[in-house]
Amino acid sequence: MGITIWKEKLFILRTEHTMYVMERDRRGILRHVYWGSPAGIEEDFESLPEENRENGYHPYVDRVMEEYSSFGAGHYKETALKLEYHDGTKDFRYRITDYKAENNTLSIRLDDSSYPCGVTLIYEIFEKEDIIRRQVQIQNKGDSPILLERIHSAQFGLPGTDYRSVNFNGSWAAEFRRSEDTLSSGKKVYESLRGNTGHVANPCFILHRNATEETGDVYFGLLAYSGNFKVVAEATPYEYTNVLIGMSDTDFAWELDPGKTLSTPSVYCGYTAGGLGAMSQSLHRFERNYLMPGPFAGKELPVLYNSWYATYFDVQCEEQMKLAEKAASLGVELFVVDDGWFGTRQDDTKGLGDWYVDSGKFPDGLSRLVNHVKSLGMRFGIWIEPEMVNPDSELYRTHPDWVYRFENRKILQGRNQYVLDLTREDVADFMIETLDKLLSQQEISYIKWDMNRSITETGICGDGTVAGKQIWLRHMNNFYRVVKEIRTRHPDVEFEACASGGARVDLGAMQYFHEYWPSDNTDPFDRLFIQNGYSLLYPPKYMRAWVTDVPEGPTSRKAPLGFALHTAMCGSLGIGNNLNRLEETELALIREQISVYKRIRPVIQFGDLYRLKNHEDNCFWAVQYVKDGRSVIFAFLTQSRFGKNRWRIKAAGLQGDGLYQVCLPGGSVRKSGAFLMNFGLEIRLSGDYDSCMILIEQEA
Ligand code: GLA
Repeated sequence: MGITIWKEKLFILRTEHTMYVMERDRRGILRHVYWGSPAGIEEDFESLPEENRENGYHPYVDRVMEEYSSFGAGHYKETALKLEYHDGTKDFRYRITDYKAENNTLSIRLDDSSYPCGVTLIYEIFEKEDIIRRQVQIQNKGDSPILLERIHSAQFGLPGTDYRSVNFNGSWAAEFRRSEDTLSSGKKVYESLRGNTGHVANPCFILHRNATEETGDVYFGLLAYSGNFKVVAEATPYEYTNVLIGMSDTDFAWELDPGKTLSTPSVYCGYTAGGLGAMSQSLHRFERNYLMPGPFAGKELPVLYNSWYATYFDVQCEEQMKLAEKAASLGVELFVVDDGWFGTRQDDTKGLGDWYVDSGKFPDGLSRLVNHVKSLGMRFGIWIEPEMVNPDSELYRTHPDWVYRFENRKILQGRNQYVLDLTREDVADFMIETLDKLLSQQEISYIKWDMNRSITETGICGDGTVAGKQIWLRHMNNFYRVVKEIRTRHPDVEFEACASGGARVDLGAMQYFHEYWPSDNTDPFDRLFIQNGYSLLYPPKYMRAWVTDVPEGPTSRKAPLGFALHTAMCGSLGIGNNLNRLEETELALIREQISVYKRIRPVIQFGDLYRLKNHEDNCFWAVQYVKDGRSVIFAFLTQSRFGKNRWRIKAAGLQGDGLYQVCLPGGSVRKSGAFLMNFGLEIRLSGDYDSCMILIEQEA
């Protein structure tokens, strides 16, 4: 394992189960050679044949798998970099001038042979998790600015074409709907131009060849960035697939001043021969171990109650206190008041930006509710949407120049709101001070940070300057700065990210937020699809899942409470029902399942996840979690067909020679791991929306 630089020309990265090989070829190009399972020793890679079929129409640089290519100079495929020097020269022709391996990081320096501009490619390996972090830094060493028009975080060359490309075809309340296409020719592009990640696609690539959950080659990479992104997968005519991932270059430009360096967001990538399941397990482990922020990374996340679906904007102190009493009696550990507690917020047309307590709704201030929640043994949390403002708000009336806009156009509204111009330092400082004050004045230990509209009209900055095409990145840099500063000032506060549900689920957000609200759609049937797609990339702990009242908002479905509870227990459990209206029997069921959840929580939140069955065709789903000899399976039957009521599923992740107590709905049995994984378990479910939970515990 580790990094090897061999005879000044081969660069080899080794993780526990993968190998990544690059070469400085005879022409000085950094050529991609291999990515896959460990494939021998250094000598094996010496004297490999180089691409030799060039001609005037298909130049060498276009044919070869480059580690990082630049527009121009014979590149006609999609390239990673596009720049312009002060004299109009528009390509970057490099020599490899330096490289070093330090600890687990390799950096390779490419310098332009005629201009004072250098690009450093960074590769950091995480050996146990089989993950490589890639990043690029570009430095202007001259005395004239350089215009950057595209700078991707990484480029990959994958052998052959005809890969299956997995991403999502989502929308609001329908996030993470898995999509799959074959890449035979041309380019496949996934992109967001919204100023956030968006619901439509995720900033990742997943490319495989006939992979199943358990088998097959899978290449994957996730961008750690919450702004505009672009992923391109291009089936070249040269028998390889060219993949690029990074910030979107649409309406993007960055003027790199003399002496300055720009670093791209990181990409976390990997290869597995073990199918989509192994990809998810390796990503989840890595995300839990390295990306999810402290101090909650190693801690179990609490069962929360959120008032949104119970009371919407009609937040009243007395009613919230009653909800809190009921929530506490069920075993809830954190009580969260959603939208509606501040300013003049009666609906979504007003109040955003006025982050002080509505004295009509809370005549004695918020502390009455906060103290009540605390006296009930729970922590208190609150909703906020700091990046936005309603035109009908004191903030907007005071600072009409604080929003993104074009000087000569009417400003567009989304959910009746405008986006604050976060490129302004005074706006960023306002956000920091406002949140700091809120968190200092009240004992608030949880923030749900929302963002309910996309960015448009990135024209005139509030300070009157033309923001130009730098605005997208400057906005994101300040967004991260604000969150980081607040988290530093209030290190014990738990932060949940949300953007109209799942419009900001990405590894950029994961570095700052402890958990995520993946969708406003809480219909447990739809959630099976949403959670399944989400789990491909992101861990169950990072996924908030609530049970809410029926009929479910977006779908009008009436699924049983038990089914909804099991679905929500697949992530970090939350309750969103109007508890004041539930029957005693329903409250009792929630109470019982919360107590079960607390017992299995370490396995769900820190275990390995296996998608045992997600057969959309026969309506049977099963998902398993395994940690340290303990395991939980949830099985769901959404609709019974033709009298079938028995389902055999094979467990995963157990020790073949271990003995296990298996607690099924009908009683307990004792089985070996080999039996459970090879013969399997028979599960009985029937009717519509039936579900069950199976506990598997290894004997000491
Ligand atoms: C968004 C969120 C919801 C809720 C509302 C409040 O839609 O996704 O969960 O917080 O805002 O306005």
